[in-house]
Amino acid sequence: MREDTGISEILTRSEAAAFIRVSEKTLGEMARARRIPAQKVGREWRFLRTALEAWLVGDDSGRMKAVPPDEMTIAEPVEQYSLPLSGFRDTAFSENHDRTLHRWVPWIAGFSGSFVAGVLEEVRRGGRRLRVLDPFAGVGTTLIEALKHGDEAIGFEINPYAALACKAKARAAHFDAEMLAAMLDRFEEYGEEKLSLNERAESVPPKGFASRVPFFSPTVERQVLACQDFIEQETTDWVKDLFQVAFGAVMVSFSNYSYEPSLGTRAGAGKPDIDQADVFSIVKRKLWEMHEDIGIFQRWTAKHKRTPRARVYPLSYLDHARRVKSHSIDVLITSPPYLNNYHYVRNTRPHLFWLGMVQSSSDLKTIEHKSFGQFWQTVRAGPEVTLRPNLPHLVECLEELRARNMEKGVYGGRGWANYAAVYFNDCQRFCALTKERMRPDGTVVVVIGNNILQGIEFQTDKLFAEIAEQEGFDIVALHEVRKKRTGNSIVNSSVRRGTVKQRTRLYETAVELRAA
Ligand SMILES: C[S@@+](CC[C@H](N)C(=O)[O-])C[C@H]1O[C@@H](n2cnc3c(N)ncnc32)[C@H](O)[C@@H]1O
Repeated sequence: MREDTGISEILTRSEAAAFIRVSEKTLGEMARARRIPAQKVGREWRFLRTALEAWLVGDDSGRMKAVPPDEMTIAEPVEQYSLPLSGFRDTAFSENHDRTLHRWVPWIAGFSGSFVAGVLEEVRRGGRRLRVLDPFAGVGTTLIEALKHGDEAIGFEINPYAALACKAKARAAHFDAEMLAAMLDRFEEYGEEKLSLNERAESVPPKGFASRVPFFSPTVERQVLACQDFIEQETTDWVKDLFQVAFGAVMVSFSNYSYEPSLGTRAGAGKPDIDQADVFSIVKRKLWEMHEDIGIFQRWTAKHKRTPRARVYPLSYLDHARRVKSHSIDVLITSPPYLNNYHYVRNTRPHLFWLGMVQSSSDLKTIEHKSFGQFWQTVRAGPEVTLRPNLPHLVECLEELRARNMEKGVYGGRGWANYAAVYFNDCQRFCALTKERMRPDGTVVVVIGNNILQGIEFQTDKLFAEIAEQEGFDIVALHEVRKKRTGNSIVNSSVRRGTVKQRTRLYETAVELRAA
């Protein structure tokens, strides 16, 4: 054991690297990125042993600067949310952008970790471990919060890239952070060598992927392909998954496209193309962030007697819900796609193709057809879709919608009425399948907003609650969790502008149901 001299010991880079058991190179990286308490003295890094010890046990306060020993506290690494301790909190996903694990991949129309945490605290009965389901798991907000609380989590996600991110996060408790750090060192060396030798990469751009302007500029694409060579040769599944998640999370940032919030060319958004970028450094930075989060998450889950487990199905819930045992779910927290035609599949085309998750546009079509509500583009030209839930006022609304802008054919009300009818039919399928999965008295919370189609407002939250009631749920409450939500740019896009005369407020509701 180290003798305690009462004087804080100052370590050189090699001593500090040996102390925390990483390579000197890794330590240098971490110090430069301010992920570890360190100070530069001249050209050399110096480390306080006590600060490193505190950092190792989870006190992040020293991350940005070396911590004088007398100011140090050894804190439980519990993430603090600035919102009320329980109840139905703000759902905005933007809050996730700087949260451990949640920050790995931004995902449109997700919800915040604190919202899910609030619901779990609200519904917890005694200390019992809960079985939590998210049928539209996205990048795993519900699953991660459930695991943090020591609960068991199950998710379905149809988008292969989101499902991969969700699975990687949900398994973070089991990853070997040291092995990942070593891989990151190799990744850096590989990048430097490949690019300095100017060698041709073995990977090639995905054949089935077409874009209006070159997705990557030539110098950027050369690095992307070298990066893909590295990922391809990786044989450990979870390491490969993490590299793919990281690459997908940042790939649009060095492409000639951007999200506004749908994917479009940078030129179209008035931004210059990206001709040069340091792809290896950008991917590596993302991976270091993930490495750091894995350590924090492992300390959180270590508090529980058993490491909580998660299962992620990269499948459609509507087709595979039966994989979840009947009447086994205590709590379901989810946010299905909204009736705003946000096209998750089109918006992740680059990820799906460049990560080899689809090969052709017919693969994309298969995902589109199996998606909840499908998409306006998929159903607008088909035969008239009959509404299945027994809601006469919705039938009237759909008729009114069908009569709007008839001269535009399927681009007018007719196409949108088909889309809305498919959407509400899927709400009914969802409720029927879910009723069967829930324990008697189990809680279902569905976050959903209102929508405007061709100038007609659909109070989707209230309609959804009525459908749920018809399928045997009790309505507990409709909590208005956001009085105003973003997304006007989607609603007001040229195809949908239609006859909106006055601006309708867009809100978001958490529909709380009880399985009777
Ligand atoms: C609003 S997002 C959910 C985001 C999630 N709450 C989060 O925080 O990441 C809806 C998700 O449903 C997925 N989805 C659509 N249809 C599905 C289906 N039939 N089965 C499973 N997932 C589906 C979409 O790919 C999308 O990721």
